[in-house]
Amino acid sequence: MTNDPTPGACNLVIFGIAGDLARRKLLAALYHLDLENLLHPDTRILGLARSEMNDDDLRNMVMNSLVQFIGGDLNQETLRRLMRRMSYRSLEFKNTAHFKGLQEWFKDSNYRSIFYFATPAAVYADICAGLSHAGLIRSDSQVIMEKPIGDSLKSSKLVNDLVGSRFSEEQIYRIDHYLGKETVLNLLVLRFANSLFTSNWDYTCIDHIQITVAESVGLEHRWNFYDKAGQLRDMVQNHLLQILCLLAMEPPADLSPDSIRTEKLKVLKALRPITKENLGKNVVRGQYVDGFVKGAPVPAYINEEGANPRSTTETYVAIKAEIDNWRWSGVPFYLRTGKRLAMKHSEINIHFKAQPHNIFRNSFPDLPPNMLTIRLQPDEGIELQMMNKVPGITEIGQITRNHLDLSFSESYNSSRIVDAYERLLLEAMQQNQSWFVRRDEVEQAWIWIDDIIRAWERSGVRPDPYPAGSWGPTSAIALIARDGRHWDE
Ligand SMILES: NC(=O)c1ccc[n+]([C@@H]2O[C@H](COP(=O)([O-])OP(=O)(O)OC[C@H]3O[C@@H](n4cnc5c(N)ncnc54)[C@H](OP(=O)(O)O)[C@@H]3O)[C@@H](O)[C@H]2O)c1
Repeated sequence: MTNDPTPGACNLVIFGIAGDLARRKLLAALYHLDLENLLHPDTRILGLARSEMNDDDLRNMVMNSLVQFIGGDLNQETLRRLMRRMSYRSLEFKNTAHFKGLQEWFKDSNYRSIFYFATPAAVYADICAGLSHAGLIRSDSQVIMEKPIGDSLKSSKLVNDLVGSRFSEEQIYRIDHYLGKETVLNLLVLRFANSLFTSNWDYTCIDHIQITVAESVGLEHRWNFYDKAGQLRDMVQNHLLQILCLLAMEPPADLSPDSIRTEKLKVLKALRPITKENLGKNVVRGQYVDGFVKGAPVPAYINEEGANPRSTTETYVAIKAEIDNWRWSGVPFYLRTGKRLAMKHSEINIHFKAQPHNIFRNSFPDLPPNMLTIRLQPDEGIELQMMNKVPGITEIGQITRNHLDLSFSESYNSSRIVDAYERLLLEAMQQNQSWFVRRDEVEQAWIWIDDIIRAWERSGVRPDPYPAGSWGPTSAIALIARDGRHWDE
């Protein structure tokens, strides 16, 4: 780990350069890093995919992607620099012998390699075998792996074993791009750099916590991939559980990868298992039927392009998660996430406990407790709802609910919030694993998720319908209402 923001030179090899992730996220991230002078002048980038292209075709593809996903106002000097770094080779990842053809590219430079697997997980093992066969893996090589790492504990172990047979855990960087988001990283600062929250962050002061990750989009031509996964595997196993860990973990000794990841692992181990017996009270599955999103009609999940009309995959899930440890005794974490909801909106709400005695009861009988909101998107920021006296010559009892609002874009006068992939690529180049997921975290998260899936299978639970453009099934309202609470909307 180094404090120098500009990482040393490396050979970045992107497997799957022609794919959606690379075009939408990785190329834009590399452009911005180069713009900020955060790529070493000697860093080279090799793109690999099946498509037949030469270096010029690749540069055209890169240019088109940057214009599409960043806009036309690109810095010409940065573009020239970025293009000079890039080359392309067509490669069938399943053909081990083909990898020998890469040796020539590596001969030109002795810098360490970072292999970015922006491909379906099904070819990770082939890529590892090919790299090994061609003698391209060194003790200082790194590998960045995209989610999902398997679709169960068993399959994730298989992927981890296969990659682990070629790379040590210190060489493996498992991406959960939520860990690169400004507001998610800020959770650590909020909790551990503010004594106000350090001392109030437990069952004595917090009533409950809500984590919402709502998307208004549907499947965007990913129906086949998504239908095998569903919202629980696609969003909860990784993103929502990582947020939960950062909210719930004990203070790590420092920011080193193992300090942070060991504390997150303890939270995952303390999650109360969800079984067939407590499933009905703790989990809701939903699937959208036709409705309207932003005024436009949209079809039901089972009528989307390429859909199987009998699919019972969930597109929505709400969970009451409980953590069996001292700090969080009796404090539920309500998680909900879904597709085709009313709007794209992700936030964390920390509901503090009510005052034990209300001295303002004559004018304000229902004194609302404080709530801290962390907005993940849109308009990243932090908001603290608190009670305030109405200014003026009013009685002291004239009070109102108001909020302290810290919008990142306004407060820091920044027109651009750094994208998660930009930060994570930089962290990987700096060889800092703190914001990447360790093997035992991934597998522990699968243990909890597998229990839920098994309970669904055993009880034959089918998803509850909800209209596209709504906030989910009514059963999700009932899940939290049973505890005398309601979702924040
Ligand atoms: N897209 C996202 O927003 C997103 C978000 C989170 C995680 N991820 C993960 O990121 C990974 C990539 O996703 P994606 O959406 O970019 O996938 P994608 O659009 O299907 O692209 C896959 C890329 O891998 C290449 N490829 C696949 N199999 C190959 C083979 N046998 N030999 C050579 N090249 C091969 C493809 O090459 P050709 O183009 O030449 O066929 C393509 O460039 C997946 O693991 C996914 O789960 C994606």
